[in-house]
Amino acid sequence: MTAKIHRVVFQPDGRTLQVPDGQTLLEASRAAGLHLQAPCGGKGTCGGCRVIIPQDPPSPSEACRRELTGEELRRHMRLACQVRVHRDMRVVVPEETRLGDQKILTEGTGRDVPLDPNVRRASVHLPPPTVADQRADADRLLDTLAEKDLPDLTIDVKVLRELPEKLRTHDFHVSAVVIGNDVVQLDPPTAGTACYGVAFDIGTTTLVAYLVDLTTGKTVAVASRGNPQAAYGDDVIARIEFCGRTKDGARVLHDLVLDAMNEMVAEACHRAAIKPSAVYEATVVGNTTMNHLVLKLPVEPIARAPFVAASASAHSVLAKELGLKIQPRGRVYTAPLVASFVGADTVGVILATGMHESRRLRMAVDIGTNGEIVLGMRERLLACSTAAGPAFEGARIRYGMRAATGAIDCVDLDGDRLRLHTIDEAPAVGLCGTGLIDAVAALVGAGVIGGSGLMQSAEQLAARRPALARRITGADGDIGFVLAAKGETGTGHPILLTQRDVREVQLAKGAMAAGMATLLDEFGAKLSDIDEILLAGAFGNFIRPERALGIGLLPRVPIEKVKFIGNAAGAGARMLLVNRGLRRVADDVARGVEHVELSQRPDFQTRFADAMFFPG
Ligand code: FES
Repeated sequence: MTAKIHRVVFQPDGRTLQVPDGQTLLEASRAAGLHLQAPCGGKGTCGGCRVIIPQDPPSPSEACRRELTGEELRRHMRLACQVRVHRDMRVVVPEETRLGDQKILTEGTGRDVPLDPNVRRASVHLPPPTVADQRADADRLLDTLAEKDLPDLTIDVKVLRELPEKLRTHDFHVSAVVIGNDVVQLDPPTAGTACYGVAFDIGTTTLVAYLVDLTTGKTVAVASRGNPQAAYGDDVIARIEFCGRTKDGARVLHDLVLDAMNEMVAEACHRAAIKPSAVYEATVVGNTTMNHLVLKLPVEPIARAPFVAASASAHSVLAKELGLKIQPRGRVYTAPLVASFVGADTVGVILATGMHESRRLRMAVDIGTNGEIVLGMRERLLACSTAAGPAFEGARIRYGMRAATGAIDCVDLDGDRLRLHTIDEAPAVGLCGTGLIDAVAALVGAGVIGGSGLMQSAEQLAARRPALARRITGADGDIGFVLAAKGETGTGHPILLTQRDVREVQLAKGAMAAGMATLLDEFGAKLSDIDEILLAGAFGNFIRPERALGIGLLPRVPIEKVKFIGNAAGAGARMLLVNRGLRRVADDVARGVEHVELSQRPDFQTRFADAMFFPG
């Protein structure tokens, strides 16, 4: 029996889908490539996938009642992951529910490394064979390449098959492409010496591709995207769970990220006016889950105790085996990993900052859904990851959103006057991570939020800060602070910071701060011993350090010790592309870093609980 099909129209863009009976709105939107926020991956626990069903909405599920306010339910708001389609319907997707274009950080501080790429191209003129010189064609080519400083090579069997004809067609003058120790392609001599590589930073939230001219080491074009896998959950755990419960789930996520990587290659090549076939190698850094999804390795064991990856090594595989559309004989190098939750992106950060060679004690912090922290210097490096939660990405926050147009990204309190700034100065539609930290820091500073994280009631504030008291709405468990009234926003509803949001911030910053304190303790160092705190990643780049210090997200160090290093993981991927010797260093770094498993530390919970308080 064929399933009944229903017609669902998604507004405001009018996209019409044919949806099989019983599918959820979230599943239907994914199938159509219409990506909605879904931080929890469809479990009904994050409230991110809000949509409005203007006519005859289904009765709210238990999850809808838990995640949505009475006012929202009255406005016919429901969670897309909770609504099963049993009839034709019209669905309105609010701006803040769309996985829109977000600001992506592509700049990153790396170190200069000598140009010595893994891909080399040599134009060679071979002495033609004679009766006195009857060397085989392959030996003739290898001997000539050795004279050009390319010794000890082997020739790919496919190249061997075409070798005799190519040599004779071009009068023994050819351009050879060498990847690693293999001759992988022979071109006519007119092909010149151009060859390119692409370095990828594959993040859980964002993807960046750097197109690099391998004859100069210069980046010639950059492309970036939100990670389309976000429609299946904001964090790696939600995505791994999706793989576990869905047949072919890992393939779906692999295809999504590869499609995005191919789009970025095409876009960067278009900008640089070259063909993707001129790209011979890609380097990839990413966390362990992203690395495994790109490589088509199983991911479920990563999230199950004892949390083991399928492989922590670097790999070099044929691009076409993964479906990456560069030169078909090109390779993809994936950098090594430290542990299941400390991936190659962390190795990239270490290479880019040179922490492994430094005589000074530094701490590199990448604040995200999964916060990674590295502490150390030349003699010793420690790393840990903390499940900071997706609050800083705007998820699980009542009016949270990514750092996209209309997101409140700065909040200042000048006396009782609240000043907001939004991205692109557009009408406010939600609150992104930096705005969230700002808002909490400002309200802690003003005494609206106490040290324990409790928001004061309007009555408690009325005598002291009457203007701020008027911004408090609700009571007890449903209390919130109005950042923007409904007439001031682009959505027609107010934007609040709720008590629950404050709790999410406390959980996230508590986890980060406890991770930092644990590493310091394990290293045997004091806070005052730290020479620098390096903030990596998009979030770190945009937060105001005084605010992060103010709420205890960063340990109390003099502010001048806090430095921004931008997308250092991406910088590390570029360094691995232009200098092949660095790959051995990456192996040593990945093996040498001591991974501190926080869940095994008896003192972690106490530190975590302490770190949830706001500093006085
Ligand atoms: S509540 Fe629907 S995706 Fe999280």
